[in-house]
Amino acid sequence: MTRSISEEVRMSTLYAVILAGGTGERMGVGLPKQILDLGGKELIRWSLDCFLSLEEVEKIVVVMAEDWLEKMGDVLKGLDTGGRPLSLVPGGNTRRESSWKGIDALAGDRKGLACIHDAARPFVTPELVRRCAVEAGKCGAAAPYLPVTDTVAIIDDEGFIREVPDRSSLVLAQTPQVFRYDLIREAHREGSEKGIEVSDDVTLALMAGHRVCRVEGEAGNFKITTREDLERARWIAGGGQLA
Ligand code: CTP
Ligand code: MG
Repeated sequence: MTRSISEEVRMSTLYAVILAGGTGERMGVGLPKQILDLGGKELIRWSLDCFLSLEEVEKIVVVMAEDWLEKMGDVLKGLDTGGRPLSLVPGGNTRRESSWKGIDALAGDRKGLACIHDAARPFVTPELVRRCAVEAGKCGAAAPYLPVTDTVAIIDDEGFIREVPDRSSLVLAQTPQVFRYDLIREAHREGSEKGIEVSDDVTLALMAGHRVCRVEGEAGNFKITTREDLERARWIAGGGQLA
């Protein structure tokens, strides 16, 4: 197990929700991307192994699309969790619904910290989880972000360029997004009552009036969305290097 970086990093109890409830439409291979092979193991195993390597993680919930629960059960069977509970729950039609189901199933201690992570980001590192957890422990909510290097444009309804926003105030969101358990549970409860659709959990925390701290993301922690992303991930998993 990965040991604490230093004594000053006193971590709370961590819980992990690994979101694998999507079906990978943009990948378009007919199987959810989280169970495709990446370097000799299923893609989701990379995230699971990362969270299992952290001794502070007490409980893990995996959320999987209903039709693929059996297959995911096979993937999880035989995993060494070090005696910690690992449960599998059916997801919802949207990421928000899946996340809410995972958070609900955690039934965590209100002082614990819930790490919500996309199974589609296999190269998450224990260091990144720790950095997010340390910040969330201080301010209630924290997530990793990368600076935007390309110029970004906003388009209008007809697809014409409407505006080019100032890049210096834009960042790209990653996961794990880490929250005090009671905070994110309440934010999700409100979000699900209103039926609001959002693409991450931070949005719900903001809507509930909370401040969210920014942690420096990692370029390696990219999300696998397309076949090109998977090819790049396989190259990295196979030991590929730039120089
Ligand atoms: N996710 C989820 N439940 C959903 C939709 C998405 O748990 N109903 C999860 C995915 O499994 C993924 C993460 O949210 O780990 C980010 O979603 P995305 O990359 O969009 O994955 P998919 O929804 O599977 O892909 P696509 O949008 O191309 O169908
Ligand atoms: Mg999706």
